[in-house]
Amino acid sequence: MRKGSIRLIAAASVMALAITGCSSSSDDAANTDTEFEIFTWWASGGEAAGLQGMVDVFNAENPDTEFINASVAGGAGVNAKAVLQSRLDANEPPDSFQAHAGMELDGYVRGGQLEDLTSLYESEGWDEIFPSDLIKAITVDGKIYSVPVNIHRANVLWWNPATATKAGITKAPETLDEFFADLEKFKKMGIPGLALAGKGDWAIAHLLDWMLLASMGADKFEGLYNGSTSWTGPEVAAGIKNFQRALSYGNKGAGNLDWPDAGKLVTDGKAGFFIMGDWASAQWQSDGLVLGTDYTYAAAPGTVGTYQWLSDSFTLPVGAPNRNAAIAWLKVCGSKAGQDAFNPKKGSISARTDSDLSLYDAYLQSAAADWKQDRLVGSTVHGATGNNALMAAYNAGVGKYFSGGFKDNAGLAKDLAAAYEAGKA
Ligand code: GAL
Repeated sequence: MRKGSIRLIAAASVMALAITGCSSSSDDAANTDTEFEIFTWWASGGEAAGLQGMVDVFNAENPDTEFINASVAGGAGVNAKAVLQSRLDANEPPDSFQAHAGMELDGYVRGGQLEDLTSLYESEGWDEIFPSDLIKAITVDGKIYSVPVNIHRANVLWWNPATATKAGITKAPETLDEFFADLEKFKKMGIPGLALAGKGDWAIAHLLDWMLLASMGADKFEGLYNGSTSWTGPEVAAGIKNFQRALSYGNKGAGNLDWPDAGKLVTDGKAGFFIMGDWASAQWQSDGLVLGTDYTYAAAPGTVGTYQWLSDSFTLPVGAPNRNAAIAWLKVCGSKAGQDAFNPKKGSISARTDSDLSLYDAYLQSAAADWKQDRLVGSTVHGATGNNALMAAYNAGVGKYFSGGFKDNAGLAKDLAAAYEAGKA
């Protein structure tokens, strides 16, 4: 995506596609379903709290429908996605499931697993309220297949101001050189400079995704996904070298930690920095911590001015048992009330261009401003640039490298190249 391309601009071309796309979803039937099951990986903490905000809106509008969240815990859906796939394969879909905008969604569409929602966009006026390039990320062959509920930022640096002060760090590192200098300061203080979560591999892969972007810049990074930058070339090799160096400042025993555990090391003063998506802020707030006092943030070093984005969206699976309830849910997902109830607690900004920013905290207000002006680049580990096959292979390759003591740089580059190929198959 180009700088400034996801903006509130007249979505003429998208609308034209939407009008010509032959849409199949009838969205005007009343919801008489007594049950409604969604499938997510938002099982606890800030993730569950955010979802509950939107569920409250749904329940108020659909008092006779029992809401069931069939969640499977595990960050980034690493456990949930396999369970979902087996349900889809057995023709036992939930009524709606969570999928990332971009290539992840594309995979479900090409598998024939999702209904076309274009008519809902027309009846709800969403083709004018969602940024046109975000609509493109959920459009396949002219038809729109999901309802985005948010925009998350992947490339955020988090730290505890009291720990940083003790280490002699007075400002956020903006470059990789400054970052490595600060990691040394934490080390001298006697704590790991970087909090790492190895459980499920994805959080280490998330760190690599940022490091490749920080090391090679947005153009070369995007080239990895359009074939113009080689996965086995010098740019990736330099990125992996930086990654290896950063990992050497990590905490011990990371293999047993999921992302909330690693985040807690930082807020407890037991580790220096955490590079994680902005759901971390929601997690800490759900634990009673205070933004600006217990933790603070900056754009991750080397990527200031670049917004590595991802978007959670909800779908209508083919064969959903409670289809009318699902459509009622999707209407809440796309609504201003639903999004402004969900996002302030989820740690994300609204996907809509008309959200009420007074409901959002200082971090989210700054993210909303950056989203409008930064260079936009998709996240690999959260489905924007890669489908499920690519992500699974990417995470496995990074997991192998990390658990092997992060030594085999050439092997990792080869595994990443293979992951990119797996995504094309
Ligand atoms: C992402 C998802 C976020 C958050 C995160 C950590 O893939 O988009 O909403 O759930 O995983 O679990």
